[in-house]
Amino acid sequence: MLQTDPCVLVIFGASGDLTKRKLVPAMYEMHVMGQLHASSVILGTARSPKSDDEWRTELKTWVAEQAHGFDETKWADFAKRIFYFAGDATTAECYPPLSARLDELASAHGTKGNLLFFLSVAETLYEPIVEQIDAAGLVVEGKRWCSIDPSAKSWQRIIVEKPFGRDATSAASLNRTLGRAFEEESIYRIDHYLGKELVQSLLVLRFANSIFEPLWNFQYIDHVQITASETVTVGQRTAFYDQTGAIRDMIQSHLFQVLAFVAMEPPSLYTPENVRAEKIKIIDAISIPEADEVAAHCALGQFAADGKEAAYDTLTGVAAGSTTETYAAIKIHFDNWRWAGTPFYIRTGKKLAVKRTEVVVQFKPPAANLFRKVPGFGTETPNRLVIEIAPNERVNLRFEVKVPGFGLRGSNVDMELNYADHFKAEPVEAYGPLIIDAMRGDQTLFKHRIEVEGAWNAVMPFLDERSAAARAGIHANYACGSWGPKSADELLARDGRTWRNEA
Ligand code: BG6
Repeated sequence: MLQTDPCVLVIFGASGDLTKRKLVPAMYEMHVMGQLHASSVILGTARSPKSDDEWRTELKTWVAEQAHGFDETKWADFAKRIFYFAGDATTAECYPPLSARLDELASAHGTKGNLLFFLSVAETLYEPIVEQIDAAGLVVEGKRWCSIDPSAKSWQRIIVEKPFGRDATSAASLNRTLGRAFEEESIYRIDHYLGKELVQSLLVLRFANSIFEPLWNFQYIDHVQITASETVTVGQRTAFYDQTGAIRDMIQSHLFQVLAFVAMEPPSLYTPENVRAEKIKIIDAISIPEADEVAAHCALGQFAADGKEAAYDTLTGVAAGSTTETYAAIKIHFDNWRWAGTPFYIRTGKKLAVKRTEVVVQFKPPAANLFRKVPGFGTETPNRLVIEIAPNERVNLRFEVKVPGFGLRGSNVDMELNYADHFKAEPVEAYGPLIIDAMRGDQTLFKHRIEVEGAWNAVMPFLDERSAAARAGIHANYACGSWGPKSADELLARDGRTWRNEA
């Protein structure tokens, strides 16, 4: 197992929501679990002047609210590892004092010059910051950096948050800028869905068992549904969201990670290189629809007004006449042998009926149905595997059995593994284990440059002018608390299928 090296975790965007709500609470949990190296420290940077203690006081409220198992004594211990630096990281002037502060922390805590940068700022600032980090000479992987320990070999890595670009071109530009400063082995493109237990569990379920994989192909699987339905609205982020939409916000990023784990080929060994290579291949195999096919392959929507909130297109921050989607369903085909003819339907949206993320694998009917003349047996196959990722973590397999008693009658039954009941494990914030992986130098659960660009290529028809017909009539086309627009049901109905909309 790889060791966690001591390092300074440098968070750009210390005042941001992600830092307060997720990153620092996640690091607190890792500290409590003993996963964070005893010498590692956190340095937050943002523009507003603030002392270390002021930032600690601010963070305490957030950690108490967000982290699992908050404890005053443990917090006091953890707080000693948190520091703050005020400066505009997009300017060259910021770096001499920042480097001096890093040197000072390395010397005081023994972090050996290892630096893990985390870009938790607005996406437009990514490239300027990376350029400045590089120009300041902070990236000297394997060479001397830390003035207090001239013999120490150090590493410098960078974690890049989503959105990773807003299309294939901007993602490629960001990749080039990152590539000028860091080796690919030091770039960690994070997606918090890969930190979720049940997403990681997909690979184990598929490849550590012999009973699923032989059936995991077009011959036995009718179709797959991947759903991430949310009850929340777009909140304070209207301006950002209006530039983004559900496809960029959820599908190109999070749901494609789930898609890749469900659909990819087995790697020969569980290593970062092998897993990432298979993900690149499966994303590359997504069939890109022609312009005149786009509308038939997707359903886009915007939520209508309800008693409490106005319709999306009338919210402050949303451009007049905006056609940005708050709901998207996309039908995906893979151009490969395993999935020939088996569609994957992916959907996500705000203000829907329930908060749930799940994968539904619907199997085909038995090749021959010897019970076809027996009353009480359904004509549809019951065999369905549901992997619920959130809010509950569970795996449910449905199959048909004989109802006990005289005569022959069939009934669907569910066999279920509920992770909370079975493993009694406390959930942890998904960012924590991923950041620890970056500290250990394990890239398995991070995206490769080629994969990200491939994922953009696959969604572009649903975003650019080719999606115009699909966006016509988008305004207020679904009710809050519903399962999305009528067109989403029609998308499946055209193929003779229905969504699993169980409460
Ligand atoms: C974020 C999106 O990346 O993921 C949000 O920007 C979304 O819009 C969130 O709500 C969903 O994450 P989770 O873990 O709650 O499913």
